[in-house]
Amino acid sequence: MSENPNHALPSYLHPENLGPWGVYLEQVERVTPYLGKLAKWVETLKRPKRALIVDVPVELDNGTIAHFEGYRVQHNTSRGPGKGGVRFHQDVTLSEVMALSAWMSVKAAAVNLPFGGAKGGIRLDPHNYSHAELERITRRYTSEIGFIIGPNKDIPAPDVNTNAQTMAWMMDTYSMNEGATATGVVTGKPISLGGSLGRVEATGRGVFVIGCEAARDAGIPIEGARVVIQGFGNVGGTAARLFHEAGAKVIAVQDHTGALHNAHGLDVPALLAHAAETGGIAGGAHAEPISQADFWALETELLIPAALESQIHAGNADSIRAKVVIEGANGPTTPEADDILTAKGTLIVPDVLANAGGVTVSYFEWVQDFSSFFWTESEINHRLEGIMRAAYAAVASVAVEHKVSQRTAAFITACTRILEAREVRGLYP
Ligand SMILES: NC(=O)c1ccc[n+]([C@@H]2O[C@H](COP(=O)([O-])OP(=O)(O)OC[C@H]3O[C@@H](n4cnc5c(N)ncnc54)[C@H](O)[C@@H]3O)[C@@H](O)[C@H]2O)c1
Repeated sequence: MSENPNHALPSYLHPENLGPWGVYLEQVERVTPYLGKLAKWVETLKRPKRALIVDVPVELDNGTIAHFEGYRVQHNTSRGPGKGGVRFHQDVTLSEVMALSAWMSVKAAAVNLPFGGAKGGIRLDPHNYSHAELERITRRYTSEIGFIIGPNKDIPAPDVNTNAQTMAWMMDTYSMNEGATATGVVTGKPISLGGSLGRVEATGRGVFVIGCEAARDAGIPIEGARVVIQGFGNVGGTAARLFHEAGAKVIAVQDHTGALHNAHGLDVPALLAHAAETGGIAGGAHAEPISQADFWALETELLIPAALESQIHAGNADSIRAKVVIEGANGPTTPEADDILTAKGTLIVPDVLANAGGVTVSYFEWVQDFSSFFWTESEINHRLEGIMRAAYAAVASVAVEHKVSQRTAAFITACTRILEAREVRGLYP
C-alpha cells in the first residue's frame, strides 16, 4: 500500500474487499471532473472525519454476558453537525456504516439542510433479543458513543430495525449522562418527547412531491398517471395514498407477501387497511395476483421502488417500461441497471433526493426541539414541500447544464456544497 498521504484508501479497510464504501468511492470518482477548482478538496470526501468502533457488553436475560460491535461514523461535518440513523443488523460492518454516513452527507447537502453526514450501527440481529436486552444494548451503545454525539455535534435517528422507542432510550441515556434533558440529541422520537408531527409520513410525502415534479418535467399529468410501487410500508404505503388522492392510478404494488395488479387502479385505502390488518397485501380485494417478472414489466408512467436495495438490477432492468423511476428506497438500483435504464431514456430520480423527506422533517424536529416551540402538521408539510421542490429544481437544472443523469447531478450539487464549505472554513489549525 502506498504511503502517499493523499492515497484514498484508509489502511483500516481491506483493499480487496471494500464493500459498500467501494461503491461510494466510485460515485465520488464520477463527480470529480465536475467539481472544477473544488476538486483540490475531493480527498475530504474519501475519508470519514471520524470512525468510532465500540464494544457493547451487556448482561443477557439468562445471566450470561454478550459483547456486540458498535459503530458511529461521522463522514463530514463541514456544513453542520453529523446526521444519520442507527441500524441494528447482523450484517453491519465498518465499511457499510462508512458508506451510509457518506450518503447522508450527500443527501443533507443535496436538499441543502445544514447537516453533515453520519451513521451508526450495532452488529446484531435484534429479533434474537428481548425488549429489556435491547434497551440495555441501546443504552450502553449510547453511553459508549456519547462523547461524540450531541445536539450540536451529531444527531442520530432511527434506521433499519430501530424506532421511536430506541430513540427515546438513546435520548434518556444521553440526558442522564449529561445531567440535563437534551431532546435534540436524536430525531424520530415519540411525539411526547419532542418528536415532530408529520415525521412518520415525511419520506413518502417527499417521494410524492418529487414524483409530481419529475412527472411534470417528463410531460406526464398526475391525474390518471399509472403508478407501480414496490414496498407498501411506511414509504411505499404513504406514497401510494398520496398519489391515489391526487388522482393517479396505482395499478400495482408488491411487498414481501406478493404482488397485486388492477389495470383500472387499486383501491389504495382498502389495501392499506388490509395490509395493516393482515401484515401484507396478499389477499387484497379487487386485484389480481401477478408474478414478480410481470410486476416489473408493467407499462407505467411512474415506478417507485420503496422496499430494499438492489431490487432493480441487470436481470430485470431490460423489462422495465416505466417513464420515470422515483427511488423511495435507499440504493434500489444497481449501477448496471442504472446504465440500462438511462440508455433507454428512463428518468431516474435518485434516492439521495427522492427519499430526503425523512431527514428534512428530522431537521424540523431538531429545530423545534431547540426552540421548544412546535409547529402544526400543515406547517410542517408546507415547509417540507418547499424544500423538496427547491432541491429538485436545483438538481434538475444541474442535470440539464452538464447533460448528466439526475444521480450525477445530485452528487455534483451536494459535493460542491460540501467542498465550498470545506474551502471557506479552511484547514484547522
Ligand atoms: N422510513 C423512512 O423515513 C425512510 C427514509 C429514507 C429512506 N427509507 C428507505 O425506504 C425503504 C423502505 O423503508 P420503510 O421505512 O418504508 O420500511 P417498512 O419496513 O415500513 O416497509 C418496507 C416494505 O418493503 C416490503 N418488502 C420487504 N421485503 C420485500 C421483498 N423481498 N420484496 C418486496 N417487498 C418487500 C415490506 O413488505 C414493506 O411493505 C428502505 O430502503 C429505507 O431505507 C426510509
